[in-house]
Amino acid sequence: MSETTAAAPAEPAAPPPAIQLTPPPESAIVKGHHVLSVESVDLHYGAAQALRKVSISAESGKITCLLGRNGVGKSSLLRAIVGIQPISGGQIVWEGEALGTLPPHARAHRGIGYVPQGREIFPLLSVRENLETGYATTKRADRDVPDYVFDLFPVLKSMLRRRGGDLSGGQQQQLAIGRALVTRPRLLVLDEPTEGIQPSIIKDIGRAIVFLKEKLNMAVLLVEQYLDFARELADTVAIMDRGKVVFSGPAADLDRDDVRRHLTV
Ligand SMILES: Nc1ncnc2c1ncn2[C@@H]1O[C@H](COP(=O)(O)OP(=O)(O)O)[C@@H](O)[C@H]1O
Ligand SMILES: [Mg+2]
Repeated sequence: MSETTAAAPAEPAAPPPAIQLTPPPESAIVKGHHVLSVESVDLHYGAAQALRKVSISAESGKITCLLGRNGVGKSSLLRAIVGIQPISGGQIVWEGEALGTLPPHARAHRGIGYVPQGREIFPLLSVRENLETGYATTKRADRDVPDYVFDLFPVLKSMLRRRGGDLSGGQQQQLAIGRALVTRPRLLVLDEPTEGIQPSIIKDIGRAIVFLKEKLNMAVLLVEQYLDFARELADTVAIMDRGKVVFSGPAADLDRDDVRRHLTV
């Protein structure tokens, strides 16, 4: 869905969120600790190979940006990490343990939060109900919506009873991120959160991601095509081309010509 959908209600001008510093959920993980290692992963769709020996990692308190043109395998990699798509080689290690064939809900329960490309919110459920779907993989004691979700995205609080499908594209993206945060992730995986979103909401989403990294020490793995957004946020970048990682390194290297070459059509 795009911002230009006729039925979408106007976005109210969002006041800058007065963010309450709620203490980190439970993790006291040291900054820079590798929570996720993707090691030499292959992935096939039938005979077609979508990932070839892909290795990347994510660290708590850091933002890793995964860049690359359309169709190079970014979403496939994220789906492999969250357990939706089986891998055919290599391994995915989470907090020191190979995940093997662990199903998606078990990975969510262990702390991997996922915001899929295209949001995939439930259009007929209310905003509140959409958020509560996150409870399925949340420990009983944690079954509430953390305050910081509404601090980051106040529009969700004012629209709790609205149907998900009645929200604008940008509001749906905020809802999808909120839903993932309800599961108290230690790694948040986001697939093109700025796709088709208006600039003011892109700013809010950027601010939210920085908050998660800096205040909650979360690891963030962000797939992006919007280079400026990635450059502003990323600590490290990985660039994929035709199923392979062709560059990985510090975000400062993004401006190198040889690196940019992989991103231009
Ligand atoms: N469910 C699927 N079945 C078959 N092929 C797929 C499927 N999903 C993606 N692909 C193919 O895998 C390749 C990588 O796709 P994808 O991971 O969506 O790339 P990206 O997210 O970088 O645009 C593409 O060639 C795409 O057509
Ligand atoms: Mg994709």
